Amino acid sequence: MSSAQMPVTRMRRLRRTRALREMVQEHGLTTKDLIWPAFIRDGTGMDEPISSLPGVSRMSLDRLLPAAEKAHALGIPAICLFPYTDQALRTDACEEAWNPENLTNRAIRMLKAEFPELMVMTDIALDPYNANGHDGLVVNGEILNDETVEALVKMGLAQAEAGADILGPSDMMDGRIGALRMALEAQGHKHVAILSYAAKFASAFYGPFRDAVGASGRLVGDKATYQINPANREEALRCVARDLDEGADMVMVKPGMPYLDICRAVKDQFGQPTFAYQVSGEYAMLMAAAQNGWLDGDKAMIESLMAFKRAGCDGVLTYFAPRVAQMLTQ
Ligand code: PBG
Repeated sequence: MSSAQMPVTRMRRLRRTRALREMVQEHGLTTKDLIWPAFIRDGTGMDEPISSLPGVSRMSLDRLLPAAEKAHALGIPAICLFPYTDQALRTDACEEAWNPENLTNRAIRMLKAEFPELMVMTDIALDPYNANGHDGLVVNGEILNDETVEALVKMGLAQAEAGADILGPSDMMDGRIGALRMALEAQGHKHVAILSYAAKFASAFYGPFRDAVGASGRLVGDKATYQINPANREEALRCVARDLDEGADMVMVKPGMPYLDICRAVKDQFGQPTFAYQVSGEYAMLMAAAQNGWLDGDKAMIESLMAFKRAGCDGVLTYFAPRVAQMLTQ
């Protein structure tokens, strides 16, 4: 690094014109960096707004189709599905999670039939199917680990069977990546990729998401016995190392903006495909401020996403994906 002082070095020489600034720009954001998380529900003609996520809605599958087509046409490489499960189908045993005909699996088949080149990612966790809103099976107030892993493997296999390209275990049980990887190999799904939610923190920023999938009213207590304590960096890195050892192809840090230090550390330490999830609460904060006229929404959106690239991420899951893609292609 140069330590030359004024006037030999004047940093502003290269900031003088747009062309000069662009010549020395270190990082870039493209539509290829985006994964679009989309909420789905049953029914037809439904595009149900989620009040805590302005501009985001739960779509019935007939509405998902044109939305996915548009995203695909804009160059977004992947869509990640999150189901709003019918309240009557939420049980303590979560059987709906591995029903081959559940909403997610029907959506996967529909999308793969229509747009084979669009990558379909799924979430693996029991919360959208659980009577008590937790990611794992709950017995006598305890979130069971190994029994949950068995359920998650069934869930993941059903998604792979339906044609999912990328599985995203977001549950934070121990041993799920290894169990899932072995099961995929054994069942003839050796090409299905795992993007592990490896460094997932017990965060308050998931609030609007829990509204979106209808889990907030049900959740008793919090997720602190399985998600990482937001104060812990070393533990997050150990979780990433473990998931990579067990067979994750890509890893994720979640939430995103308050955890950019973790993104950078993961990229530097492991050099593996690294993603961040700009979660619902981050989106909600930016949208709320923009709607109040307190900041320029589009500029803040682009800046927030560029920060992930600077922090070493290869891509970002963001509810802004369709809007950014539109802006970037204009
Ligand atoms: C489910 C899951 C959550 C999110 C993604 N998958 C919620 C949670 O862990 O409570 C949050 C995503 C967001 O807030 O946008 N396990």
